[in-house]
Amino acid sequence: MRLDVITIFPEYLEPLNVSLVGKARAAGLLDVRVHDLRQWAHDRHRTVDDTPYGGGPGMVMKPGPWGEALDAVLASAPGPERPVLVVPTPSGRPFTQALAGELSEAPWLVFTPARYEGIDRRVIEEYAGRLDVREVSIGDYVLAGGEAPVLVMVEAIARLLPGVLGNAESHRDDSFAPGAMAHLLEGPVFTKPPEWRGREVPEVLVSGHHGRIGRWRRDEALRRTSAHRPDLIERTDPAAFDRRDRET
Ligand code: ADE
Repeated sequence: MRLDVITIFPEYLEPLNVSLVGKARAAGLLDVRVHDLRQWAHDRHRTVDDTPYGGGPGMVMKPGPWGEALDAVLASAPGPERPVLVVPTPSGRPFTQALAGELSEAPWLVFTPARYEGIDRRVIEEYAGRLDVREVSIGDYVLAGGEAPVLVMVEAIARLLPGVLGNAESHRDDSFAPGAMAHLLEGPVFTKPPEWRGREVPEVLVSGHHGRIGRWRRDEALRRTSAHRPDLIERTDPAAFDRRDRET
């Protein structure tokens, strides 16, 4: 998968060299290219923002540099490939596990993290005619820019790429994983030693009885979802668990 990020803070994206995403790059599974938007700002101060039409606080990112930057990135494709354009904005559609899964199937993603009050609307309109454009929010809060959301989205997408996580099965039981976990939070997990500060690992987990373990995990997931996310619980399908457990 190829990923391009256009930003005024290229150094903000350095964590893409670390850990899971860094290893995926080193293994050739991800081709990440970070571009400095100011390359495409031509005045003496390399200005990328200006005051908003209609008045109001803050600044808006000028369309000129973004248009040139996107044209240059699109022109760098060897053939007729077109990326999905991912625009992080608190006014976007929610970024969910389902969207991470969908984006993980695209061969090429271009991210346009903005600063200030966002990008002049005409840029989105211009490229929406040519590309699949997704305006995406990572949550109901406002950050100072879209770079942290890009890190969040890239990590969620990259771990779904074939070969990135050691064990493809490891996605299946994640919170929000499509299927039985779609609207559920994963329950608690334990490792050795079997007793720590007088606290024991739940007996069922050391029983070796896969059926009982599966049911216990389902019940814990339901319990935790009711406590932390009551909004999700009405969308859960406990029968999906039993179907899955019968299949495996
Ligand atoms: N930019 C600022 N806040 C954001 C958010 N919550 N999601 C995506 N991009 C953003």
